[in-house]
Amino acid sequence: MAAQAGTARPIIIDTDPGQDDAIAILLALASPELEVLGITAVAGNVPLSLTEKNARKVCELAGRPDVKVFAGCARPLVRHQVTAEEVHGKTGLDGPDLPEPAMLLQERHAVDWIVDTLRAAPAGSITLCTLGPLTNVATALIKAPDIAARIGEIVLMGGGFFEGGNTTPAAEFNIYVDPHAAHVVFTSGIKLTMHPLDVTHKALMTKAWIESLRQLGTRSGDAAAAMLDFYERFDMEKYGAEGGPLHDPCVLAYLLRPELFAGKDCNVRIETGSELTMGMTVVDWWDVTPHPANCRVINAIDARGFYALIRERLARLP
Ligand code: RIB
Ligand code: CA
Repeated sequence: MAAQAGTARPIIIDTDPGQDDAIAILLALASPELEVLGITAVAGNVPLSLTEKNARKVCELAGRPDVKVFAGCARPLVRHQVTAEEVHGKTGLDGPDLPEPAMLLQERHAVDWIVDTLRAAPAGSITLCTLGPLTNVATALIKAPDIAARIGEIVLMGGGFFEGGNTTPAAEFNIYVDPHAAHVVFTSGIKLTMHPLDVTHKALMTKAWIESLRQLGTRSGDAAAAMLDFYERFDMEKYGAEGGPLHDPCVLAYLLRPELFAGKDCNVRIETGSELTMGMTVVDWWDVTPHPANCRVINAIDARGFYALIRERLARLP
């Protein structure tokens, strides 16, 4: 659903920065169509102490120290913590040398803030944009089941079906880290739109595009280029591709320009029993089960338009 003319769409970004998360946050902060009510950090790519700090660093990079950043859950609901320093570096935001943040972390726990914010807002008015494991959102739903009816939509990066997984052969990282949280979200009845590897792997970065960010001549462009130069090396080596996927910005680009994407309403269930397929998003793409659709699964993207949008918006930042 695109933002109505003249009104900014209120969103909450739940995230585990992460270079691709950082670009998604920059895209959101550069887009007047979106009102970022707050950013909630979750343990994922790196531990929570780093994801919350990285979220603050990115807000300051964008010239937005006013944005409220909250720390959420420090570990998954059931399973042990799995992180991805091999992809994102030991800081989670390797590449640029960003200063320690001066803006303060909010004192409230992210889950409590999410619950209270949803209860105070008109029902259905807020979109949750989740870019990491779903631990915060699931915990909020467990603590306050009434908020399920108050969330307008959850647009998430996670999962994979024909593309398989990137963390195990069956599972994508965000879902693999906390499959039980994903199960809570995918059985909540909330309107869901999922951006799996099947769409994010169809929009690979190019060296020329990353260089075009550097050519912006801004601190945001320089930092984004340094982040992506570092970040894409892992997937380029892994997949033997000329560029890496930029997963998380798909979520925000979808809110800004939904016409760049296509997908299908499907039933999606989460594997939480088998170690072999733990965290798999089992997508009934061909409607072979009697289970009703519970998620719009995105599997197509206009890559040229996607990267043009990101560059155009990043050019607006300092
Ligand atoms: O599998 C890709 C996802 O896992 C992205 O959100 C990336 O930031 C990591 O969180
Ligand atoms: Ca992420």
